[in-house]
Amino acid sequence: MCGIVGYVGDERKTKSVLIEGIKRLEYRGYDSAGVALLEAETEEPVVIRKVGRVDNLSNACKKALKEGFHAVNGIAHTRWATHGRVTDENAHPHRSSDGKIILAHNGVIENYESIRKFLTTKRYTFSSETDTEVLANLIAYHYQKEPESENGLSRFAKSVRKTFNHVEGTYGVAVICTDYPDRLVGARKGSPLILGVGKDECLLASDVSAVIANTNNVVYLNDGELVEITKDGYHISNWDYTQIEPVIHTVDWDIEDAEKSGFDHYMLKEIFEQPKSLENAMRGRFSEDASTAKFGGLNIDVSQLRQMDRILLLACGTAWHAALVIEYLIEKYARIPVEVEYASEFRYRNAPLDKNTLVGVISQSGETLDTLEALREAKRKGYHTMAITNGVGSSIARECHGGIYQHAGPEIGVASTKAFTSQVLIGAMFALYLARLRDMSYGEGKSIVAELKKVPDLVHQSLSEAEKIKEIAKRYSQYPDFLFLGRQSLFPIALEGALKLKEISYIHAEGYPAAEMKHGPIALVCEDCPSVFIVESDEIQNKVVANMQEVKARGGKVICIQSEDCTIPDGLADEVITLPKVHSMIAPLLATIPMQLLSYHIAIERDCDVDKPRNLAKSVTVE
Ligand code: M6R
Repeated sequence: MCGIVGYVGDERKTKSVLIEGIKRLEYRGYDSAGVALLEAETEEPVVIRKVGRVDNLSNACKKALKEGFHAVNGIAHTRWATHGRVTDENAHPHRSSDGKIILAHNGVIENYESIRKFLTTKRYTFSSETDTEVLANLIAYHYQKEPESENGLSRFAKSVRKTFNHVEGTYGVAVICTDYPDRLVGARKGSPLILGVGKDECLLASDVSAVIANTNNVVYLNDGELVEITKDGYHISNWDYTQIEPVIHTVDWDIEDAEKSGFDHYMLKEIFEQPKSLENAMRGRFSEDASTAKFGGLNIDVSQLRQMDRILLLACGTAWHAALVIEYLIEKYARIPVEVEYASEFRYRNAPLDKNTLVGVISQSGETLDTLEALREAKRKGYHTMAITNGVGSSIARECHGGIYQHAGPEIGVASTKAFTSQVLIGAMFALYLARLRDMSYGEGKSIVAELKKVPDLVHQSLSEAEKIKEIAKRYSQYPDFLFLGRQSLFPIALEGALKLKEISYIHAEGYPAAEMKHGPIALVCEDCPSVFIVESDEIQNKVVANMQEVKARGGKVICIQSEDCTIPDGLADEVITLPKVHSMIAPLLATIPMQLLSYHIAIERDCDVDKPRNLAKSVTVE
């Protein structure tokens, strides 16, 4: 949550790089946006902050800055409000009351009140309700006490370092000091910050999408690291001022991947990208000889893995739903008991765990703080951990013992779509891998590999229902409540369908195992509450059909997402969306596609901003 960008390089580009950069980070928060620029001629700062989207800020900049305005450096921010209301005054960047320091922050400063009291006694003043403003003033306080450095870090960078010795909480920051127009300082702990290394320019950003238009070369900063950048280079150091040798990564996607490419919304683009993202999740990960899946980065040997007699999966939101599907798949095919827990609950629950438990975390961004802290808690207790994540170089990717990258490409829409299906597919491959280490035969493994390889084509085929789903969405967009119902591995898909609809259309929706309906939720069923059933032609199909009858008997509408060989009595469902009949390992993944399209089109009918739903942010880096 919150996105920050910093730039030092070509003076003519500073403003546009920053505005474009935070536009790409807008999915991290869109309550307000702001920019601070050190004007090239005067080296005086211009700070512009506006409630609302980056477009508001961009218009305000056009009005406020004269033609040909250039800046020697600058920082920008897009906010997801935590402390302080959504106002221009609370928007970042914040400036110290002596005017020297300007700062953009992502994270939460937990001890801001005591710092504020201390600084007030030193005559620093405050003009916002945020926790962040104390950072600008505390850096200014240390700066005025700090002697000029003779070598190594500048006085400016040292004062930033000293500040963070007194700060509790999380932060990724980009800082300007008006006495040092040639540079910016960045630092991180608990919130992401990357360094982009271009030709005659350096950038700081919360994630790669903000720098990818300028450079593919990035350094993922670690917690506790501080970086000082100029247009000619950078210097990274840790808490004790020791210089760090950076590892420069080359990002393997480009600006086109982070754009809408002709689609109306990122969410729609990402739904339609699924054949490709799923192909990427599988690439090079099957062993035909052994009829199994293979993973390069698990960092656990087979004998250790064989000894695991329990798996605990931790995640939040949509990734938690993926974990629930994976639980079904691993238990069914590999016969290993799996538990799934909300990462945020696990951290504080002090759950007793068996010795031979493998702890897996799932996170698209790799930065979700609840999941990261759960991972840390599991590591602290000595468990072997692994992650499924799309966030290359993310905090979770770096801190787990091993893992599997999703390679889904950037997911910009706040509502997760392609990341979910790729997590489910990787989970299915992992289930196959574990099963083949245990009791699954070569023959069965071979046929599952063949089925999994069909996934991209099957998803492509399912996407062809889009027009029909759009028409259904038109008929149902004004209903106030929805139930989503499925059984077994389709139950988490019902949960995910309900979450997607809630998130982007603000319609109240609940997901349940279909059989649970009669234990309470059936009270909601009426003409105004349609039920979306997801059903397969399996041994419990008839039970689900009976639940549909119960809904119909109470005047409820039925939307049925079914595999093509289901035998649902004619006329029972008001709407039918048909999917190809597939192997049961793939059924949950495929059933997700119509859910995504249904919620997307309902949200469009209701005129909702699907890519930036109210109150949400893509990467939740606060607890
Ligand atoms: O980046 P993560 O997968 O860790 O994010 C977890 C959740 O915050 C995320 O899935 C959230 O629920 C999305 N809004 C779902 O669409």
